[in-house]
Amino acid sequence: MNGHLAIAIDGPSGAGKSSLARRAAAHYDFIYVDTGAIYRCVGLAGFRNGVDTRDAAAVERILPQLQIRMKYNEAGEQRMYLGEEDVSADIRLPEISICASNVSAHPSVRAFLLEMQRKMARENNVIMDGRDIGTVVLPDAELKIFLTASSTARAQRRLLELHSKGVETSLEEVLKDIELRDYQDSHRAEAPLRQAEDAVLLDTTEIDFDQSFLCLCRIIEERLGIRA
Ligand code: DC
Repeated sequence: MNGHLAIAIDGPSGAGKSSLARRAAAHYDFIYVDTGAIYRCVGLAGFRNGVDTRDAAAVERILPQLQIRMKYNEAGEQRMYLGEEDVSADIRLPEISICASNVSAHPSVRAFLLEMQRKMARENNVIMDGRDIGTVVLPDAELKIFLTASSTARAQRRLLELHSKGVETSLEEVLKDIELRDYQDSHRAEAPLRQAEDAVLLDTTEIDFDQSFLCLCRIIEERLGIRA
């Protein structure tokens, strides 16, 4: 134990992990760590360098030259940097999502990013979201939550989010992308997406964001005995 509290939130793409974790972090004054953003940086770097992101050896070759940094601005938002460049917007492009999923299957990439994630949790009270936070990154987290929703519900939410950012795409496209990533993320050999045995399941298919947030707060307050 390092004197800090860690809440691990895992689950498939589009389950609302980041919006809920961000709001809960602000509510309880924790740092929110979006680990998918780190994998997205590796995916973006591969994409920009013309690397086939499914090719483990090719991706491994670019790792030593990558300088990925996570910074928090005054509003407490996590910004991602590749070298000196703020890539926080570019890593969200739909074509980068699948590259991120591809690179995340490679053991060398996971090992490369592990310490960066653990260091954040050693130094802060964190709410960290991802796919393997409760199972691999922070197996001793004080609270683990597995957040999920049906693939259709997740695709509808992701579509609204992309449209609000001006990204033109269809429900079909988004659903296809979500189902492909679900499959890849849960069938890879290394740290696949799965619910940790001691994680609390929160399924948000039938409930809206505010209701999901209330459920999350109830779990946090009951399990950790903290109040906002
Ligand atoms: O959460 P996200 O959609 O931004 O994550 C992008 C990809 O990164 C996702 O397809 C799976 C991978 N990922 C992972 O393997 N482990 C994590 N802890 C976080 C994300």
